[in-house]
Amino acid sequence: MIQHDVDLSAANTLGLPATAERLATVTSIAEARQALIEAERHTWPLTVIGGGSNLVLEPWLPGLVVRPALTEHWLEAADGDTVRVHVGAGVNWHQLVVAMAERGLWGIENLALIPGLAGAAPIQNIGAYGVELAEVLEEVHLIERDGARERVLGREECAFGYRDSVFKHALENRVIITRLVLRLSRRPRPRLDYGDLASRVSAAASPSEIVDAVSAVRREKLPDPARLGNAGSFFKNPRVDADQARALLAAFPTMPHFPLPDGGVKLAAGWLIDQCGLKGLRDGHVGVHDRQALVLVHHGGGSAAELLALAERVAAAVERRFGVCLEREPRRFGQARPAGGGKP
Ligand code: EPU
Repeated sequence: MIQHDVDLSAANTLGLPATAERLATVTSIAEARQALIEAERHTWPLTVIGGGSNLVLEPWLPGLVVRPALTEHWLEAADGDTVRVHVGAGVNWHQLVVAMAERGLWGIENLALIPGLAGAAPIQNIGAYGVELAEVLEEVHLIERDGARERVLGREECAFGYRDSVFKHALENRVIITRLVLRLSRRPRPRLDYGDLASRVSAAASPSEIVDAVSAVRREKLPDPARLGNAGSFFKNPRVDADQARALLAAFPTMPHFPLPDGGVKLAAGWLIDQCGLKGLRDGHVGVHDRQALVLVHHGGGSAAELLALAERVAAAVERRFGVCLEREPRRFGQARPAGGGKP
């Protein structure tokens, strides 16, 4: 079940060269528990990867890398307007979105074409076009490394925030998520308030029509990882306080800005980077995407170090010009390959 020295360059959408010391692909809860028991027994560090679409991998991942491959999903019989949908961690997210929309179920249609697997979705609380996973997620089923016990977290316990959750903090690499439970609605509830979505679909659109419209917008702006290595947005959209937002708007009146309920203001990192003239920049094997400045790309032949150096250069330019600090969005795993190639 455990493979050794596994090449992960095709298992991360940036296409960065990386090797797992050990890899376990788990297809059941029993296999996931077994993997955790082994990791605990040998005190191996644990890294869980899904579709690899939000990762920056360093060349060497020591210990055990686990890839969940629980690929079932099913609907729980329910009365009324809503349905509980159970989704294995290894289900492809976009295929789930399409399948639910085809059944006429509402709730995740705006999250179309987000790459990756369902089990990774709660980690960063995936969001797009005005909708976040947290709005429809009811439970996360997982196995804890400590004692290999099964546990169910409710939405509150997941501590969701903007691109954030407990899985990036207290539970980071301490659990294997096996299943999500989503609550979707049979009753139409289109969410068309973001950007130009409303101009692309009618208010009476079906969920599948919204999936198609969102997919079209994403295809126009975001590079297809199968063709050009990328991890989607490389930075979070930064938030500033009201005073800083006022000062920035006085200097840059056209700056996109989104007031938050607590008085803070969210800015568009893509716009800030674009204004620094960095869109389309190429630096060795890496660069800034030419249609969406928030996306860093890997043209092949590069490394995590090269990409992270570019990210620092981009963040420094934004800091210099706007005094705003950008925070990386994808998670960084692994380390430099030890001398001797990592073999014991
Ligand atoms: N903008 C520019 N230049 C750019 C990019 C953006 O001027 O190069 C401006 C746009 O014109 C717009 C604003 O910045 O006024 C926001 O751009 P957009 O609507 O494209 O969204 P985003 O803030 O760049 C976020 C998410 C995306 C998500 C879209 C749509 C984050 C970090 N990113 O991007 O998520 O698809 O909104 O909801 O929150 C991802 O996380 O991988 C991702 C793609």
